[in-house]
Amino acid sequence: MAQEVRGVIAPGKNEPVRVETIVVPDPGPGEAVVKIQACGVCHTDLHYKQGGINDDFPFLLGHEAAGVVESVGAGVTDVAPGDFVILNWRAVCGQCRACLRGRPWYCFDTHNAKQKMTLKDGTELSPALGIGAFAEKTLVAAGQCTKVDPSVSPAVAGLLGCGVMAGIGAAINTGNVGRGDTVAVIGCGGVGDAAIAGSRLAGAAKIIAVDIDDRKLTTAEKLGATHTVNSRTTDPVEAIRDLTGGFGADVVIEAVGRPETYQQAFYARDLAGTVVLVGVPTPDMKLELPLIDVFGRGGALKSSWYGDCLPSRDFPMLIDLHLQGRLDLGAFVSETITLDDIEAAFERMHHGDVLRSVVEF
Ligand SMILES: NC(=O)c1ccc[n+]([C@@H]2O[C@H](COP(=O)([O-])OP(=O)(O)OC[C@H]3O[C@@H](n4cnc5c(N)ncnc54)[C@H](O)[C@@H]3O)[C@@H](O)[C@H]2O)c1
Ligand SMILES: [Zn+2]
Ligand SMILES: [Zn+2]
Repeated sequence: MAQEVRGVIAPGKNEPVRVETIVVPDPGPGEAVVKIQACGVCHTDLHYKQGGINDDFPFLLGHEAAGVVESVGAGVTDVAPGDFVILNWRAVCGQCRACLRGRPWYCFDTHNAKQKMTLKDGTELSPALGIGAFAEKTLVAAGQCTKVDPSVSPAVAGLLGCGVMAGIGAAINTGNVGRGDTVAVIGCGGVGDAAIAGSRLAGAAKIIAVDIDDRKLTTAEKLGATHTVNSRTTDPVEAIRDLTGGFGADVVIEAVGRPETYQQAFYARDLAGTVVLVGVPTPDMKLELPLIDVFGRGGALKSSWYGDCLPSRDFPMLIDLHLQGRLDLGAFVSETITLDDIEAAFERMHHGDVLRSVVEF
């Protein structure tokens, strides 16, 4: 029988979010209903609300979540009621050309629930990133549930479901940061700071944090930055070169999503170095670079979707490292809030006051 729960929707472009009654169907074949315990507020939720992703309003927001599986539909064998899970937006299909080549982290046909959650009047909702977890319960594809050690705090675990995984993965999966590497990270919000933490985990020898806000640079140091550069007052390309013997960093991670910061990343890397773009640009942005520099400087220019993560491989491992005290995921939780505080949390995010606000249920 369908259930009614409280959830937060974005009703229309730039309209304030509101708490509504959400109708959650029983799980069908391959689906699961998850009781949400915590869900972080990500920049992408704000993009949805602003109409920056698509026009499929109303959205059921929220996608950085952890909770407990309540019920599963026919044919679900990987998770069972009572399992503690992190929700992911990469439930791999196993059939597409990427999966068949053994590269499921690029899966081009990821699964979401087939049935729709609705408002009481039957209006169908579009769940953010196929998740929709600013709700007491949500309906997902069973493959979107990744089991992890249940002794971790849900508020911490949920963050791995999006931004923190994107940042850590940009460093360790896409950028392939290794022992002794020099790394620079441009933009030290939740994603950039996670790239810093990931670089430390991978054994980077020098980690240079770049931001325009000194508060962000202070947090970046706590997460592993060995040097900081305020690019409002200092040329970041020169500063990064100075800190790396005049050469530039082996890996530069762009976690803002703007042409000017991408250009900084491009010129702040060493010859044959790697640039990783994890910040998300808007469709109007353009980049101009001398092609001879693209050729002449060699190396790799990569982008990173969701940190090229494979949830089943990466989530349990990172939670274990956190529980062992080797990865401080707790540092990303700036505050815990309720479902009624999300509009205010967007405001604080916009002003750079928080790394992550996390809704607890
Ligand atoms: N690739 C992915 O899979 C993925 C996943 C989640 C988020 N993202 C994207 O990553 C980006 C960062 O997300 P976030 O949650 O950390 O956002 P955020 O707003 O918390 O952080 C952005 C940071 O960039 C800094 N900044 C802004 N302009 C700058 C400039 N010109 N130079 C240097 N620093 C600057 C800000 O001060 C802030 O600290 C966003 O574009 C977001 O959409 C990507
Ligand atoms: Zn696939
Ligand atoms: Zn997100």
